[in-house]
Amino acid sequence: MKIEIAECSGFCFGVKRAIGIAKQALGKNRGKPVYSLGHIIHNSQVVEELSKEGLKSIDSLDGIKEGVVVITSHGASPEIFSEIKARGFEVVDATCPYVMSAQKICASLSGEGYTVVILGDSQHPEVKSLFGFAENKAVVVKDTEGVKKENIPSKIIGLISQTTQSTENYSKVIREVLKRDFSEVRIFNTICNDTKKRQGSAAKLARESDVMIIAGGRMSANTKRLFEICSGICKDTYHIETARELKPGWFEGKGQVGIASGASTPDWIIEDVKSVILSMVETNTTVS
Ligand code: F3S
Repeated sequence: MKIEIAECSGFCFGVKRAIGIAKQALGKNRGKPVYSLGHIIHNSQVVEELSKEGLKSIDSLDGIKEGVVVITSHGASPEIFSEIKARGFEVVDATCPYVMSAQKICASLSGEGYTVVILGDSQHPEVKSLFGFAENKAVVVKDTEGVKKENIPSKIIGLISQTTQSTENYSKVIREVLKRDFSEVRIFNTICNDTKKRQGSAAKLARESDVMIIAGGRMSANTKRLFEICSGICKDTYHIETARELKPGWFEGKGQVGIASGASTPDWIIEDVKSVILSMVETNTTVS
């Protein structure tokens, strides 16, 4: 059996950068509590490792009295930045530059009177931050059905996408928006380069493989997207967080296994997945 890892795998640039910023904040602030508002990245194993180094994940600012608050790679709304400062905490910003660029577009469109339409998951921290930068007046849709149903209260709109959406879904949404009666539509391609490359290399591998394993956090938007894309191509596609979830039966009689990973999956998890699959295949071969 052949096992192939997708060409674009492991941490993306924004995740590496956020982890580096968090570690730097821990190093510079020994003796002071250092928090991340939400998980610094959507991978439980990495969050756990960083918590051993002292980074505490919190869901809200309530209950903390002092220290440093790290903004995660997904960003935060302007209100949250103001609140952190108003409460007297130091803020360290690890927002991914691609997310920052989408935030700036939201602020500028909103300032010019456009209704911002965001393609994304309304509960995802990145989308919440974009919504905040659009002065809390944006419309969030998750697909073409959302565009059909939503009451968009303006004739002029600006359309942007969560950075980790699939280009296919965004293209469909753009076509649906253009069918509606807006007098002006400004479209921004805010899907990040890493996402495009990762989705392209996972789809290519899914076409060549009999089984696809997608390794990444359950909360990770880009991992979920990879799973959707690959399962549309290869019916035997499985989403796992770690090698412990692998089942030997998935690989019986298969010729090629592909492994793709979300942007917040560390290399050691990918290597672990590969070696556990190899050992399962070897055990099956020995038994038969
Ligand atoms: Fe940034 Fe794209 Fe990664 S938005 S955090 S480089 S998936």
